[in-house]
Amino acid sequence: MSKTFSLAELSDLAGASRDQVQAWATEGRLGALGKDDAGRPSYGFEQAERAVALGGRATRRRFSVVNQKGGVGKTTTVFSLSAAFAALGRRVLCVDLDAQANLTSSFGFDPDGLDLTSENLITDERVRAEDVILETGIEGVHLIPADIKLCRADVKIHEMFMRELILQNKLRHLFSHYHVVLYDCPPNLSKVTINALLASDEVIVPVETQSYSIKALSDLTNTFSLIRQKLSHALRVWILPTKVDRTSSLAAEFLAALDQAFAERLLPPVSADAEVVKAPMFFEPVTRAFPETRAAREYMRLARFLVLPDAERDAKARASDRLTPLDDAPRPPA
Ligand SMILES: Nc1ncnc2c1ncn2[C@@H]1O[C@H](COP(=O)(O)OP(=O)(O)OP(=O)(O)O)[C@@H](O)[C@H]1O
Ligand SMILES: [Mg+2]
Repeated sequence: MSKTFSLAELSDLAGASRDQVQAWATEGRLGALGKDDAGRPSYGFEQAERAVALGGRATRRRFSVVNQKGGVGKTTTVFSLSAAFAALGRRVLCVDLDAQANLTSSFGFDPDGLDLTSENLITDERVRAEDVILETGIEGVHLIPADIKLCRADVKIHEMFMRELILQNKLRHLFSHYHVVLYDCPPNLSKVTINALLASDEVIVPVETQSYSIKALSDLTNTFSLIRQKLSHALRVWILPTKVDRTSSLAAEFLAALDQAFAERLLPPVSADAEVVKAPMFFEPVTRAFPETRAAREYMRLARFLVLPDAERDAKARASDRLTPLDDAPRPPA
């Protein structure tokens, strides 16, 4: 189902007044408008995307979502954020790089029934990105799917020329087409993960607040520093607490410790929420299946933050209220 946008939403996305957005619509600068059931003009993804561009807010971002620990919320983060970015008028490419292919299944594809996947893209010189990209059920979101063959990708590319840069070289010409590229990485630091890191500018490290040590996290971020040095590739690293139990004092203590250790690199957390687990049964992320739940609103807040222009984002990352939990009160209608 396509999302429609209100005039207020477009004005918010563009950072422009409603009058300005309406003027763009009248001048035809938002493309051909649809009609709602009552025959009034309606705004869809194309209008949102154009409004973002006209408002000068079309930033380009490429994120690897990485943690060698399994089950911390990597795939959930990619799935939820992809829909959240599209709801902000951003064109998104998701790349499933995990042989478990959970992201591919989440979007409703059967990994065993696909002709070409990210494994072919990475291991076969003849396969181009255009050959493997699928449209998903979410307007504005495309997917490069994965399948079990990826298990052997590391072995296959071992002898290949510039093996860390295969993904970057295959995808580079598409980077200007998408506002956001999201790589869902396997729970290891394999060559495939290194490929994703080198095709990204930023890394999001989801962490569970129950069971993770700051030391293990620091070791992981040191790996990114090593990549920076050895491969001359700068990466901005973000830590994302996931599945946060707001009632647990242990989780609160862990969040405080993360804040101490990572300061402005710590992203606003995502709460533990049963709807997050339920949503993929409908082949939808929580942001679409249950948009009013806490985790959905937290992923939306995160997406808004991540696409801010650099200076605004830096200022917000340092702001004292950046980790304030969202309140549970129902929101007033837009
Ligand atoms: N905010 C949340 N609240 C409750 N459950 C969550 C939340 N985020 C993720 N989960 C659940 O945790 C489990 C693991 O999440 P997910 O598959 O995203 O982790 P992952 O890091 O991608 O795992 P893997 O390393 O195996 O690829 C899933 O069952 C998912 O539904
Ligand atoms: Mg996963």
